[in-house]
Amino acid sequence: MGAPNEPAAPGPELRRGVPEGAEGQVAALYWEAFGRKLGPALGPPETGRAFLAAHLRHDRGIVALDSTGAVVGVAGYQLAGRGLTGGSARDVLSVFGPWAGPPRLALLALLSRKPAEGELVMDGICVAAAQRGAGVGSLLLDEIAAVAAESGCTRIRLDVIDTNPRAQALYTRHGFRALRTQRTPFLRTLMGFGAVTTMHRAVGPLGRAHL
Ligand SMILES: CC(C)(COP(=O)(O)OP(=O)(O)OC[C@H]1O[C@@H](n2cnc3c(N)ncnc32)[C@H](O)[C@@H]1OP(=O)(O)O)[C@@H](O)C(=O)NCCC(=O)NCCS
Repeated sequence: MGAPNEPAAPGPELRRGVPEGAEGQVAALYWEAFGRKLGPALGPPETGRAFLAAHLRHDRGIVALDSTGAVVGVAGYQLAGRGLTGGSARDVLSVFGPWAGPPRLALLALLSRKPAEGELVMDGICVAAAQRGAGVGSLLLDEIAAVAAESGCTRIRLDVIDTNPRAQALYTRHGFRALRTQRTPFLRTLMGFGAVTTMHRAVGPLGRAHL
């Protein structure tokens, strides 16, 4: 605890766009949160993090920066055919080769999501483990809603896996409602989850949820 007159430490600063030079930090955070799911497609971890960093689309992420400029949170989104994580089939084949590459491409296809008309798809929100529970994730979700509204979207969509009820609870508190759950028992051993729930939230002109 600080001294009585000590100013409170500033909260993280949100920034639209991944700053140049922060790709490695974003990839590390992303892998920490989603490495279990992404590992079979892009692992081992060092290779996966390098792939993510090399193909990040800077304009499709919102980051939270601490007072030293370190990235402590990121939320990626897909809009107009582009998402935060990139890399073409050719990139995957050039890293993993013509034999190991195709099955990895098939796994990536299983994980890929395409936004419908008027929709922003949030694909990947994560906060550094030491900073969780302090409101950073909520700030990122609010900013995603603002981006959706400013981009003329009427809806935000996301997917949450069955092993992550705390994240689902957070989304529900932010106005998301479950639309459907797809069972994926064939992915339980490989990627660690057995079902995916798709959640939606309507977006008003100011980015507020229509509750
Ligand atoms: C989910 C996550 C982005 C939320 O960010 P945050 O800064 O912790 O969120 P806030 O402080 O605004 O809100 C706290 C709420 O987030 C959720 N949450 C907290 N820790 C969490 C964790 N380790 N994993 C999942 N959700 C968590 C809970 O609903 C929590 O509320 P509670 O304390 O009443 O249970 C963050 O916890 C995280 O990175 N988790 C791991 C990655 C992940 O699960 N991403 C979502 C994939 S769909």
